[in-house]
Amino acid sequence: MWKKIEAAPADAILGLTEAFKKDSNPRKVNLGVGVYKDDQGVTPILKSIKTAERQLVEIEASKSYLPIPGSPAYAANVQKLLFGADNEVISSKRAATMHTPGGTGALRVGADLLKKFNPTAKVWVSTPTWANHKGIFTAAKFELADYPYYNPETKDVNFDAMLAGLEAVPAGDIVLLHVCCHNPTGVDLSAEQWDAVVAVAVAKGWTPFLDFAYQGFGASIEEDRAAIEKFAVAGIDFLVASSFSKNFGLYNERTGALTIVTPSAEETAVVLSHVKLTVRVNYSNPPAHGGQAASAVLDDAALYDQWVGEVAEMRERIKAMRSALVDGLAARGVEQDFSFIKEQCGMFSFSGLSNEVVAWLKENKGIYIVGGGRINVAGLTSGNIDYVCDSIAEALKA
Ligand code: LMR
Repeated sequence: MWKKIEAAPADAILGLTEAFKKDSNPRKVNLGVGVYKDDQGVTPILKSIKTAERQLVEIEASKSYLPIPGSPAYAANVQKLLFGADNEVISSKRAATMHTPGGTGALRVGADLLKKFNPTAKVWVSTPTWANHKGIFTAAKFELADYPYYNPETKDVNFDAMLAGLEAVPAGDIVLLHVCCHNPTGVDLSAEQWDAVVAVAVAKGWTPFLDFAYQGFGASIEEDRAAIEKFAVAGIDFLVASSFSKNFGLYNERTGALTIVTPSAEETAVVLSHVKLTVRVNYSNPPAHGGQAASAVLDDAALYDQWVGEVAEMRERIKAMRSALVDGLAARGVEQDFSFIKEQCGMFSFSGLSNEVVAWLKENKGIYIVGGGRINVAGLTSGNIDYVCDSIAEALKA
């Protein structure tokens, strides 16, 4: 059956990790996939999560199925993090949350749901966006379109062009927006710019689909969700795909959520009934462990405080590595100005390195960077920063 079928290309991001694992270069560095490393180069299990897991082992009495949307306790905790505990969206029951296998699962469940009820809509994504966004919405049979986002000249958001692009999106279409720590560029909207985007969504009647995978990696747990609170106040339909992969370090537990907000509790109850059907025919019901561990942390005041501290530690280490990279390149006499990297936020730096340089670094130095020049700054450590700076300097002078 497969004899005449050609092999598919490797995934733009996870394929790099496969290649990295096979590379025999002892100095190799993986700056591809967005996975946090500590200064020893280890992706740690957070201490708060480890404590919660130990407690779970003791008290867990059954491995029976979770409900299709996951546990109500997990959904309540996700909503508190997304909106803030006192948000009207929660008290008025305008939000329904499904525990999904990661943020990717949330995007795909949301895409399948939207396709069922809005089959002719287009999905608008930023230029550029996370490589897998296009794959997910294409797999759900959506036609895609782009709105302007990044200006390579200013290394910032091209906001006038973005807003003009969003004003031209027809009512009923879907617009995918990154809430914070834009992947891959690391440049975000200001509060005023978000106000303008929300106003356009309300005026034009398109549906925002918010991707929120990096809460806490920008400024703080509370500040990073500011855009979501603005959409909530607007009283319109929107969806949020969120993930605990990065901020709880629960990468391989596939712990995410799809939250659907509507203008009324009645509509939300209807949507929930349909999204349950979408999940049932896909993976039936979610895996329990990651959600239980995250919920246990969020339910315990001391563990919660410890977790907030651990997120801050990850955020600050990444910031320190941004400075080390910029200063390290300048110290090596690299003429190109990389100072903008210090201003970007989240895990990634859209470095401006060309695809030729990216390929050269992989071939000659065993340094893996995503095509387009996205560097996972969280993969830099005090043990590899000099090697990376030396290698980039050499590549740029070559
Ligand atoms: C990334 O962008 O590297 C992460 O979101 C991991 C992934 O699944 O691509």
